[in-house]
Amino acid sequence: MSQSDTLFQTRLRDHAEMVATCLTGLLGGDPQSDEIVRPAPLLAAMRHGVLNGGKRLRPFLVLESAALFGGSAEVALRVGAALECIHCYSLVHDDLPAMDDDALRRGQPTVHIAYGEANAILAGDSLLTLAFDSLAAPETVTEDSVKVALILALSRAAGLGGMAGGQALDLMAESEQPDEEGIVRLQAMKTGALIRFACEAGAILSKASAEDRARLRRFGEIIGRAFQLADDVLDLTADAATLGKATGKDADRGKATLVARRGLDWAEAELARLVAEASALLAPYGERADVLLAAARFVANRRH
Ligand code: IPE
Ligand code: IPE
Ligand code: MG
Ligand code: MG
Ligand code: MG
Repeated sequence: MSQSDTLFQTRLRDHAEMVATCLTGLLGGDPQSDEIVRPAPLLAAMRHGVLNGGKRLRPFLVLESAALFGGSAEVALRVGAALECIHCYSLVHDDLPAMDDDALRRGQPTVHIAYGEANAILAGDSLLTLAFDSLAAPETVTEDSVKVALILALSRAAGLGGMAGGQALDLMAESEQPDEEGIVRLQAMKTGALIRFACEAGAILSKASAEDRARLRRFGEIIGRAFQLADDVLDLTADAATLGKATGKDADRGKATLVARRGLDWAEAELARLVAEASALLAPYGERADVLLAAARFVANRRH
């Protein structure tokens, strides 16, 4: 393992702890101003879906892309926590019987198994809303124009033309097999969009130049693509105990994946190609981008 890979592992762990603390704060039992009450079963379902491990890769990317441009770590943390709320909501809903129908997530029963379907649906709704609460709240001290830019970018990444839209295309693809371009697009939406936002958000909150913002956005798109490709490889090759979620599901449900279409050898070569592309893209930043590049390698080579 290279020095930057070791540094990446340390930072990923340290950032994950900070993110967990921030998320625990957001998911406290006391109602906030203008809230009336936080119903205990709903809050418990939300906490189950969020405070249950997870790699916290998306907040890590926000923090590190902000650091690249000298942005505030405090703001980046709250933006990262907001993004993690949306990611966790996407997983809670992804696991529902009407979607992928999964019983295991992060090594534990999924939210609908533990708290019932209605609470799982509402936990997702409330996490999505909480994300925008975290961005807009006065504690996230930053200029209004920056806040609005973050809120707009996250809305576009999470909604109809982003993650949620991609999930719809993913389900449609179970019955009407798309071509390769269609698979790439649906994956860029269901998974890529939130990862793209993670990288772009660091540039936005640091008020980086338009060129830097575009570069980070492209970096996010590339590693987002690699992330889902690796997820699809792991679904085929790993075991549930290692992944903390059921495997072999994509083939069972007839999911449209590039791994199913092109095979594992192609996928490994494609992952290496994507890492090289990411590396070329960040070359202008030199050593300052070493940890982000290590993140790209992790995404491609991950075993969990
Ligand atoms: C899983 O995401 C869902 C996909 C987008 C493929 P992660 O692998 O980041 O899940 P956690 O957060 O670490 O559990
Ligand atoms: C999930 O893709 C993408 C999301 C937006 C949650 P998958 O359905 O492949 O994710 P896992 O394998 O259940 O984590
Ligand atoms: Mg799915
Ligand atoms: Mg799934
Ligand atoms: Mg999967």
